[in-house]
Amino acid sequence: MTPVLDVRDLTKIYGDGDTEVRALDSVSFQAERGEYVAVMGRSGSGKSTLMNILGCLDVPTSGTYLLDGVDVSRLTDAQLALVRNRRIGFVFQAFNLIPRTSAVANVELPLAYHGMKAAERHRRAMFSLDLVGLADRADHEPNQLSGGQQQRVAVARALVTEPALLLADEPTGNLDSHATEEVLSVFDDLNAAGRTIVIITHEPEVGARADRLIKLLDGRIVSDSWQSGRHAVGAQ
Ligand SMILES: Nc1ncnc2c1ncn2[C@@H]1O[C@H](COP(=O)(O)OP(=O)(O)OP(=O)(O)O)[C@@H](O)[C@H]1O
Ligand SMILES: [Mg+2]
Repeated sequence: MTPVLDVRDLTKIYGDGDTEVRALDSVSFQAERGEYVAVMGRSGSGKSTLMNILGCLDVPTSGTYLLDGVDVSRLTDAQLALVRNRRIGFVFQAFNLIPRTSAVANVELPLAYHGMKAAERHRRAMFSLDLVGLADRADHEPNQLSGGQQQRVAVARALVTEPALLLADEPTGNLDSHATEEVLSVFDDLNAAGRTIVIITHEPEVGARADRLIKLLDGRIVSDSWQSGRHAVGAQ
């Protein structure tokens, strides 16, 4: 089967000469459909740089990236915009919800570019909100929701286009432990339903929930291992 992610020798160099920073140095890995991968590493190790490339928000200096078998470096800007909108669901540390706009309207937003009828957009957004357990909060605006709920709305929005990949950069960075658990249990459920998830985090207990842990140091992968994931957390 074609891997969802196939990354080979990715190198990203910022600046040049004295100011040159090798943010990623020959990073290679593959991830199959349904994998739940955590990427960890201290500040400056290259996590966000990797996330930006995986999300087609930035391009590597060298190396190749195949998303679902497609070499993204060969796509035009318009095709890339489509890939970002339809094939990848993004979740960021800041929830990035539109204020004074209902949860369901926030979740519908990525569908606005699909030329879809309003009723169908609404139906899909409600389905997505239901996946994160918030169908009963559809008409609430962001400031009427808890932090964990706001992030779950952001997850619903990321899922509404049925992307091949859910990419999350520090999704629990702004959340307390209760809200972190709310969001992580949504990720557990999504992964159990077959979603491919890549989560970037500083927090060991967040990384422990994934099935596979990739550790970055100075732009290189220093370890890539399978772990017993969420099943191990209660056992410890
Ligand atoms: N636009 C840029 N120009 C120059 N250097 C950059 C740029 N973006 C990142 N860097 C450098 O690349 C390296 C990797 O940065 P990156 O943001 O990927 O780290 P990170 O692992 O996400 O860190 P954090 O945990 O603090 O978010 C760092 O040394 C950083 O200073
Ligand atoms: Mg970062």
